[in-house]
Amino acid sequence: MTTFPPTTTFADKPTLTGDLVVLRPFDEDDLEAMAEAIRDPEVGRLTGSVHSSDEAGAVPDEVVLRDWYGTRNDQEDRLDLAVVDRATGRVVGEVVLNEWEEENASCNFRILLGPDGRDRGLGTEATRLVLRHAFEALGLHRVSLEVYAFNPRGQRAYEKAGFVTEGVCRDALRFDGEWVDAVVMSVLDVEWAQHRGRPELA
Ligand SMILES: CC(C)(COP(=O)(O)OP(=O)(O)OC[C@H]1O[C@@H](n2cnc3c(N)ncnc32)[C@H](O)[C@@H]1OP(=O)(O)O)[C@@H](O)C(=O)NCCC(=O)NCCS
Repeated sequence: MTTFPPTTTFADKPTLTGDLVVLRPFDEDDLEAMAEAIRDPEVGRLTGSVHSSDEAGAVPDEVVLRDWYGTRNDQEDRLDLAVVDRATGRVVGEVVLNEWEEENASCNFRILLGPDGRDRGLGTEATRLVLRHAFEALGLHRVSLEVYAFNPRGQRAYEKAGFVTEGVCRDALRFDGEWVDAVVMSVLDVEWAQHRGRPELA
C-alpha cells in the first residue's frame, strides 16, 4: 500500500531546500566542483569506486564527467541532484535515487560529499530531503542503500534520517587486499509516515 500518492515523476527535477543545504538540478558550471569531490581519496574508497589506496584520488576523465553531468537532467528513471552548501553557496557533492523498480515502487539511494561538505550535518539533512521527495512526491514504497562496514559515519547519518539496518552482504568489496562487508539499510513509506526523517522523536 502506498502511503503517499505520487504527485511527480523522475522526469521532474526538483529543488529541495533545507536549513543547511539546497539540492538542485546540475548545471554545466558544477563540473569542476564535482570533479574535485570525486577525486577525493576518501570518496573513492567509501563509495567503492576504487579497490586500492593507489587508485583513490585519481583525476576523473573530464570528457566522461562532462557527458555524465551534462545528461543527468534528461534521465526519466532516476534523480541526480547537486548538494549546495548554503553557508558558502558551493556545490559540495551529490545525491542520487537510482535503480528504480517501478513495479516494486523501490529505489536505491546514494550520496557523496567532498571534504568541504562533511561532518557538519549536511549529509543527514540531504538524506532527509531526498527521502521526503521519494516518499511524499514520488510515492515510493522502499528506499534502500548499501554502506561499507568501514564507513560508520555514513551508517550513522543514514540511521539518523530513518534508515534501518536489514542485513549484511559479506565480503562485498575488496580494498587494499582486505575484504569489507556491505551493510544493507532501508526505509519504508510506512516508517517515513511515522517519523518523517526523525526516528528518535517518533
Ligand atoms: C557519508 C556522508 C554522506 C555523511 O554526511 P556528513 O554530512 O559527513 O554526516 P553528518 O555530519 O550529517 O552526520 C555524521 C554522523 O556520524 C557521526 N560520525 C562521524 N564519524 C563517525 C565515526 N567514525 N564513527 C561513528 N559515527 C561517526 C557524527 O558524529 C554524526 O552523528 P551525530 O550527529 O549523532 O553526532 C558524507 O560524510 C560523505 O559523503 N562521505 C564521503 C563519501 C561517502 O561515504 N558516501 C557514502 C557512501 S555509502
